Amino acid sequence: MDYMQTNKAAWEEAFENRHSGWGEKNADMLCRCRLPFFVPDAARELEKIDFRGKRIAQFCCNNGRELLSLMKMGAEQGTGFDFAENIIGQARDTAQKAGINNCEFIVCNALEIDRKYSGGFDFILFTIGAITWFDDLNPLFAKVSDCLRSGGLLFINDYHPFMGMLPMPDESGYDARCPNRIVYRYFRKEPWIENNGMDYMSRAYRSKTFTSFQHTMSDVVNSVIDNGMRVNRLNEYDYDIGLSDAYDNRGLPLSYILLAEKPGNILTDSGAY
Ligand SMILES: C[S@@+](CC[C@H](N)C(=O)[O-])C[C@H]1O[C@@H](n2cnc3c(N)ncnc32)[C@H](O)[C@@H]1O
Repeated sequence: MDYMQTNKAAWEEAFENRHSGWGEKNADMLCRCRLPFFVPDAARELEKIDFRGKRIAQFCCNNGRELLSLMKMGAEQGTGFDFAENIIGQARDTAQKAGINNCEFIVCNALEIDRKYSGGFDFILFTIGAITWFDDLNPLFAKVSDCLRSGGLLFINDYHPFMGMLPMPDESGYDARCPNRIVYRYFRKEPWIENNGMDYMSRAYRSKTFTSFQHTMSDVVNSVIDNGMRVNRLNEYDYDIGLSDAYDNRGLPLSYILLAEKPGNILTDSGAY
């Protein structure tokens, strides 16, 4: 079985084991707050974008909370893609409860998004812990580029690749007295294999296998560029956005925002301008 099929099964199992009430307050948050679920720096960058009348998408959207919060910025149509069937079920449920009826959620592997979406989006979003599930970023960003219309934007807010070098507090390599200690290689090629559930949504349990991958910052930037997009902005931040606050505000790059655009005049198949 290839690693994506195993990951799909592991994510669906994690949802089955979710903490009681996980995700169930999202509809309420969507009704009460502007741009809930984004860190302030991401919200500030998103506020600069005019979403009115736009067709927007999120790849690996999980339970849809972030995409749904962008829908409230005036987008005309939203589409969330994720391969976990039961998690997409919660996304649809949240949309309905929040009264957002112009956002669809599609169960599929992000690499196999239907060709009918080619050129279909003005804006594509990736957030926290989405691109790590792909061993090679090239087919992923090729799909993003294909789905964007000319002039469309890609927005990524994710863990900084530097974080992959740091042990988490529950790992044996972590030493609170030596918090800047580097344990893992930045250029790590072998995948991360984990069988402890998905801690932000479930308790720890002996789970199906999650396989994820370390990418360097140049892997990310070059795959975006090589697939016909132009990087407009790259911001780095010294705080984490989901794994642990143990390293926050110590001068280490822990998260980033990348904004790229698919220009109108690019010849993506030859790589030439
Ligand atoms: C860490 S979550 C993203 C979380 C989201 N940012 C949030 O805070 O709710 C990663 C998501 O990627 C999805 N995923 C992983 N690999 C995928 C693939 N190949 N195609 C589609 N979805 C995928 C998983 O099902 C999971 O919902």
